Amino acid sequence: MIAIRSEREIDLLRQANAIVVAVHEALREMVRPGVRTRELDAVAEEIIRDSGATPAFKGYHGYPASTCISVEEEVVHGIPGERMLEEGQIVSIDVGACYKGYFGDAAVTWPCGEVDSARRRLLKMTDLALSRAVRAAKTGNFLNDIGRAVEGTCEPAGLGVVRDFVGHGIGTQMHEEPQVANFDTGERGPRLKPGMVLAIEPMINVGTHRVRVLADGWTAVTRDGKPSAHFEHSLVVRDEGGEILSRSLICPWGVRED
Ligand code: MF3
Ligand code: CO
Repeated sequence: MIAIRSEREIDLLRQANAIVVAVHEALREMVRPGVRTRELDAVAEEIIRDSGATPAFKGYHGYPASTCISVEEEVVHGIPGERMLEEGQIVSIDVGACYKGYFGDAAVTWPCGEVDSARRRLLKMTDLALSRAVRAAKTGNFLNDIGRAVEGTCEPAGLGVVRDFVGHGIGTQMHEEPQVANFDTGERGPRLKPGMVLAIEPMINVGTHRVRVLADGWTAVTRDGKPSAHFEHSLVVRDEGGEILSRSLICPWGVRED
């Protein structure tokens, strides 16, 4: 069963996501050569707790941090630590917060300093894929239209669409039904209804779509070592397309008009 949220609940989800967005806006300023990923995580946790929320990821199946920070060939679930960012790298930051029992979840990949054209293209295409997926999240469409929008944007561009991790419903739990694939599953799936709340999160690679998980049990990396990007928004299904709950006015992503 996919939950249909009331406007009151959607407002609480909006508040949880506003905290997530505040974290992203602060961390964006900190992404520069020489910063360690654990320093980004510490600031994120402070902002979340000062906002009266709790870090949704910390303790989730034993996950040890408040954010996932995935650098370069790391796809998702990178554990913040001593790794220091370098000029020319891309860094994916994923943040979750729980506020008054409702969850916010969003991710974005930033360039560290100047990055090369392959990385710039990867960021642009992943952001565009999310934007198209958000538009596909409208009343009357099927769940599979979301994955088709991502795949249809990235595959023809020769990029690798990660299949081993998916998006999800979100609400009073971080992960709810349904699973939201970033590719055509071959089944149209349930019809989308207004008030459904989804976290759509394309993970796209410069090279192969294939990934493996490191010995830490969390960090997913590309099999070929090439860079990967991850953009995620939480949104409500509406008649005219997804209404993004995790939108930033300072550093918008997934909102391009193409
Ligand atoms: N945005 C990711 C997700 O929705 C983050 C989960 S990380 C974990 O799955 F540590 F909490 F597992
Ligand atoms: Co998520």
